[in-house]
Amino acid sequence: MKKLNRREFVQTTTAVAAAAVGVPKTVFGQAPTMMTPKSARPCVVASSNGNRSKDADGVTCVAKAFKMMTGGADVLDALVAGVSIVELDPNQTGVGWSGLPDAEGVVQLDASCMHGPKKRAGAVAGIEGVRAPARVAQLVADETDHHLLVGKGAQDFARAMGIKIEEGLINENARKQWLEWKRRTDPLHYLSPKERAQAWYDAGIQMVREGLIDGEHFWGTINCDGVNPKGEICGVTTTSGLAWKIPGRAGDSPILGAGLYVDGDVGAAGSTGRGEANLYNLSSFLIVEEMRRGAHPKDAAMTALKRVAKNTIEKRLLNAKGQPNFGLSFYVLNAKGEYAGASMYEGTYAVCTEKGPETLKSDALYEGRPT
Ligand code: GLY
Repeated sequence: MKKLNRREFVQTTTAVAAAAVGVPKTVFGQAPTMMTPKSARPCVVASSNGNRSKDADGVTCVAKAFKMMTGGADVLDALVAGVSIVELDPNQTGVGWSGLPDAEGVVQLDASCMHGPKKRAGAVAGIEGVRAPARVAQLVADETDHHLLVGKGAQDFARAMGIKIEEGLINENARKQWLEWKRRTDPLHYLSPKERAQAWYDAGIQMVREGLIDGEHFWGTINCDGVNPKGEICGVTTTSGLAWKIPGRAGDSPILGAGLYVDGDVGAAGSTGRGEANLYNLSSFLIVEEMRRGAHPKDAAMTALKRVAKNTIEKRLLNAKGQPNFGLSFYVLNAKGEYAGASMYEGTYAVCTEKGPETLKSDALYEGRPT
């Protein structure tokens, strides 16, 4: 009989032990991941709009998600129900159907979700004609073998799943703001593509400075993460993306590791703000990996913000002090239920614990405002 080496012995005895306790085999012949029983202080953490928009009963996203989750609902179901309050708020110009459109006046939405215990994720990018894309992202995770569906394919999938598609869906306020932006940028047709792209961006930023657009809505997004009393962690991020973007532009929100990352054994992180800066650094993945190495959510988020700042070297992206001239924020929780909100510049974030929903000051890398 062949003598087993140590590794083969461990594999064989583990398989025998698994068979003895009736662990089912998957089609790949591996036992499913055994979730060790855990406990956590339940909490839901989100961008500040998670404690601003309200449903018909006056309940905000974080409060709704916390109540559902602690009442026994699946954590991701609770988070998707929570963020739908923000997605459906007609006064939100950075999330959902009423978000500011792209450069052609078309609303294209991005969203992603991750389910820690199930180790499943789904996302959509550039989807048109739906009001609340987070649910479509969840359907991609639950009903397909894929992670990311984009554009018309995402819309066709949503329709097939029974989601209502509304042609030309745009909020009247968002359409008026788009017309104003068009008026300001029309003479720019004669610039080089590079100058025009910068001028598009500058015109948008100027509208923020003049108070026409809420600064938080220029890259408006909601990220919402939750951990229930059993230590089960999920996250969701949903957005209308950068205002006046080039049609087809997808930001960080639908990209795993950038706008969202969840490891069911470690924690969750997600972002709002300038997606391109986050994408270059895959900050949500970095934050979760920092927490895996033992960092507190706040320190993990600060590491990511410092990395983004260090990697921002283009003059057009720096202010007079040589610091990034854009906002970027992270919302983070770990498997124990410790949480943080951290931003490039001063800001707020939302949280709900057994104390109820609160809006708290974020930890900021830099004082004041980006510009
Ligand atoms: N963080 C949202 C975006 O850049 O699209």
